[in-house]
Amino acid sequence: IQTSVKNYKNLSFRTIYPDTKDEITIPEGYEWKILIKWGDPLDNNDGINYQNVFEKASNHDVERQKYCFGYNNDFVGFFNFKDKTLLVVNHEYTNPEIMFKDYFLRNQPTKEEVDFMIQAHGLSIVEIKKNKDGFFEYVKGYKFNRRITAETKALISGPAKGHKLLQTSYDPNGEFVYGTIANCSAGKTPWGTVLSCEENFHSYFGGDLENIEPEKMTDYKVVEIHQRYGVPDIKYHDYYGFYKYYDRFNVEKEPNEANRFGWVVEVDPLNPNRPPIKRTALGRFKHEAANTAIGKDGRVAVYMGDDERYEYLYKFVTKNKFDPNDREKNFNLLDEGTLYVAVFNDDFTGQWVEIASAYLENGKYIIKPNPKLPNIFQEDPVLCFIYTRKAADLLNATKMDRPEDVEYNYITKSVFAVMTYNEKRKASETNAANPRPENTMGHIIEIIEENHNPTSTKFNWRIALMCGDPKASSYNNKLFIYGQLAKSDVPPISAPDNIAIDKVGNVWIATDGNPGLDRLKSNDGVYVLNPFTKELKMFLSGVPNCEICGPEFSDDYKIFFCAIQHPGEGDLNATKWPYLNDNCPIPRPAVIQVKRKDGLEVYL
Ligand code: FEO
Ligand code: CA
Ligand code: CA
Ligand code: CA
Repeated sequence: IQTSVKNYKNLSFRTIYPDTKDEITIPEGYEWKILIKWGDPLDNNDGINYQNVFEKASNHDVERQKYCFGYNNDFVGFFNFKDKTLLVVNHEYTNPEIMFKDYFLRNQPTKEEVDFMIQAHGLSIVEIKKNKDGFFEYVKGYKFNRRITAETKALISGPAKGHKLLQTSYDPNGEFVYGTIANCSAGKTPWGTVLSCEENFHSYFGGDLENIEPEKMTDYKVVEIHQRYGVPDIKYHDYYGFYKYYDRFNVEKEPNEANRFGWVVEVDPLNPNRPPIKRTALGRFKHEAANTAIGKDGRVAVYMGDDERYEYLYKFVTKNKFDPNDREKNFNLLDEGTLYVAVFNDDFTGQWVEIASAYLENGKYIIKPNPKLPNIFQEDPVLCFIYTRKAADLLNATKMDRPEDVEYNYITKSVFAVMTYNEKRKASETNAANPRPENTMGHIIEIIEENHNPTSTKFNWRIALMCGDPKASSYNNKLFIYGQLAKSDVPPISAPDNIAIDKVGNVWIATDGNPGLDRLKSNDGVYVLNPFTKELKMFLSGVPNCEICGPEFSDDYKIFFCAIQHPGEGDLNATKWPYLNDNCPIPRPAVIQVKRKDGLEVYL
């Protein structure tokens, strides 16, 4: 890595250490505040009545959730457009066992509960304004405030549009779909849109693949494809129970509906009338995040992880160049380009191996699959985009330890790719890029693209962080920073997930996975890695049984945002955070903001 950058800074805040407290902990000299939480109204009406929803969700509550901030905030994106500042937040999933009284005892969601959950998924777009105290507050009733839910009409675009595997009885042309679900992390494009990522979509489908109604079978491959993606999660799965009330979530009745999820969804915060668009050229898998970087010739690279054990790291490169002077011209950039998957060699080199390229000629797609792919992909090249995991298997891509966030760092001119953990990896399955058997702690790989150019197809790589505890008794669980065993006063870290890069190149790391298995027995948190000084400090500790998501900064870097997702998950008595004394019987996910008390940049 080229450390020619002169302006890097040491981190001056004094590190905190992991804790199990039922409160947010941050370093001395900083303060925090809630920005927006589940149930806050985006319109001018009342917020959600949590007590009513908990006791017995009604159609009125469903109607209100349509206009209120959704549940389980994951990605957080800050956008400063000339005259307005917008926050875009993903609502990845719901915790019905927390939201609704005795949910598990009943083992049967009501239709109102299912409808409520459908509205609590998706995204929120909301205006925020800075207050005199230096914190932001959100603005109710603003004309750009918008909810996208699991039933908002979304368009299908790119090479897979119209394919027989995407046709359903309500959409025989395979060109639109109701809603987006399991939106985990995301990324921002240089033209000011969000690439929201559909991750664990399999959980929402029920039914038995052996009982598919024959007249609904448009392509016999659907069974094999669903099995490769784990659809449905459990045949008759009542946790969400969407399939009980809606046939499209039942694979027996609507076998192709699940093929219409697992995509990157582009959302334009500046145009409430533009529907979300599923960009199929970016491939179909359990998308964690999609972060862009502009190549030296102006083409755009999109880095993407498929977050499941032994899945892959991908990159898409657009055919055409980004035009900084014409926002609209960039809107179809992601419909033409080349999809690659990563191979990491044990000698610390690597390649982005082409899966397929897709471009338009006279309004028709020309798709060129990698010639090494077998006949099923040559005969029906669109499969490269729908059945991407299989194409990657066949190209011998490197099986990773659950790829989460991947971001290009413009200061180090390298890419940081997070592998959250994979406790199942056997010693015989290790490779240099996933070197730990039983990797319970996770690690972060740094990829240095050839010529530091995001559109290159070759790279070198090294491991920036092997997560763990410097004091761990087992060597496998110790903490290494750029190959050096961390000193005993460095805070332990495990299960890295989302990252954000600040103005001076520090990597801010949010974790998801404590307490769990062999990991730390403390709450999840936020850490900062300085890739120049190789320091690691802990910046924030969350509340019990939450994961921390969406680290993000305001454009002046004076506010740090993060999402407190699923507080209390797995233990109904763990927490009632955020304790607002407003008649809410349960904990609530929320986006919080942190600033320095002196108002300076948070990374100083
Ligand atoms: Fe929804 Fe991979 O985290
Ligand atoms: Ca994640
Ligand atoms: Ca990120
Ligand atoms: Ca995770």
